[in-house]
Amino acid sequence: MKSVYIRGNASLYGEVTIQGSKNAALPIMAAALLVPGVCVLRNCPRIADVEYMCRILESIGCRIEREKREIRIDAAQLSDSRLPEEYVTRMRSSVMLMGPLLGRLGEVSLSHPGGCVIGDRPIDLHVKALSRMGASCRDDGKGLAAVCSGLRGTSLRLAYPSVGATENVVMAAVLADGVTCLENCAQEPEIGWLCDFLTHCGASIRRQGPGRLLIRGRKSLHPCTYTIPADRIVAGTYLCACLAAGGEVRLKGAPEGENGALEAVAERMGASLRRTQNALWVKRTSPLFSPGRVETGSFPAFPTDLQSPLLVAMAQAEGESSMKETVFNGRFGVVKELNRMGAGIRLDADTAVVPGGRMLTGKRVRASELRGGAALVIAGLCAQGETTVENRFYVDRGYEDICRDLRLLGACVQDG
Ligand code: UD1
Repeated sequence: MKSVYIRGNASLYGEVTIQGSKNAALPIMAAALLVPGVCVLRNCPRIADVEYMCRILESIGCRIEREKREIRIDAAQLSDSRLPEEYVTRMRSSVMLMGPLLGRLGEVSLSHPGGCVIGDRPIDLHVKALSRMGASCRDDGKGLAAVCSGLRGTSLRLAYPSVGATENVVMAAVLADGVTCLENCAQEPEIGWLCDFLTHCGASIRRQGPGRLLIRGRKSLHPCTYTIPADRIVAGTYLCACLAAGGEVRLKGAPEGENGALEAVAERMGASLRRTQNALWVKRTSPLFSPGRVETGSFPAFPTDLQSPLLVAMAQAEGESSMKETVFNGRFGVVKELNRMGAGIRLDADTAVVPGGRMLTGKRVRASELRGGAALVIAGLCAQGETTVENRFYVDRGYEDICRDLRLLGACVQDG
């Protein structure tokens, strides 16, 4: 399946269960390397990045068994610290194997990681922090190699609250010698899930106020069974879809309070949101208003991963809106395609100015990264006529089956 085909201009009505979280599953799979035994992870999303991570773990000596959404990772025989180029270059998250491999084997080497093209994605913060913990890192231009004779706990302050660097430090610190105090760390919910998993494995991690973690190194960790939480970004994407296309949807299992400013923005735009025990109801049957100025940022600000999906809703709203992107410097790639559909968005450095009140027209458009691809699918739902989103594999990196989910919400969407 190479594309998504959408017949547009219809509202969404129905319910969908939110899949397990990609951004929680990937670091937790990496953290399973720290445990010399079988960790069982339930509710893993069936997406390409999880598949790549399984292959990487197998290639370095782990035994992996999969049954539907359950993955059993046995890292008892972990033997190789060289990560295979084939997968590392496809998936940025492979960088988060550095901390656990240094912790377990005292060495790691990898080519420069790939991933979505959303701007500069250096790994200097990871390297600096791991070096402070005793690793010596060398970059030969093609890849990175790091070695250590045991990591040691220390006091660290990240220059920016990077999600990946925080995860790497946490994973390195749980088996390090002594106490690590990490300041200005990321506070995204996925950090909490990773710490929760590691705590279930016997790690000692304490949150000391916002942006500060205290990790006491242990001699070893033990296996556990853990359920991956629902994906806040997938839930947020479907919330934006209902906001943009109108209708009433029930998002079963949607996490509560994990999408920062999103829910307040949606309400400002005219949606009514209601939470029941295990679901989020989203209703947007009246006209859509501009939310004014929205700015992405580290949690709990508006999530950068939902910036492109929200742009589509802004394009339909009455009045001008603006979206300032402060996390990734190349994350407006989708604007060109949205403008081909008639969105009329102007880019001014890190800000997209969205005039609003536009009826989009169905077109053949091309995804160039994960969340921008999802935004094009949402644009297709709102557009007059038919839309085909090419390069569907970008969308499949994060959504188990976006066509299945949107059909459950009543959309006319097909695999192409
Ligand atoms: C993670 C998420 C991604 C999300 C992002 C921000 C996963 C698998 N991916 O990505 O979906 O969009 O958090 O919420 O969880 N930076 C540096 N040096 C570094 C590391 C980062 O300058 O060493 C910069 C990046 O270029 C970027 C910013 O910090 O501009 C944020 O990056 P980071 O928080 O590290 O994002 P990821 O962990 O890559």
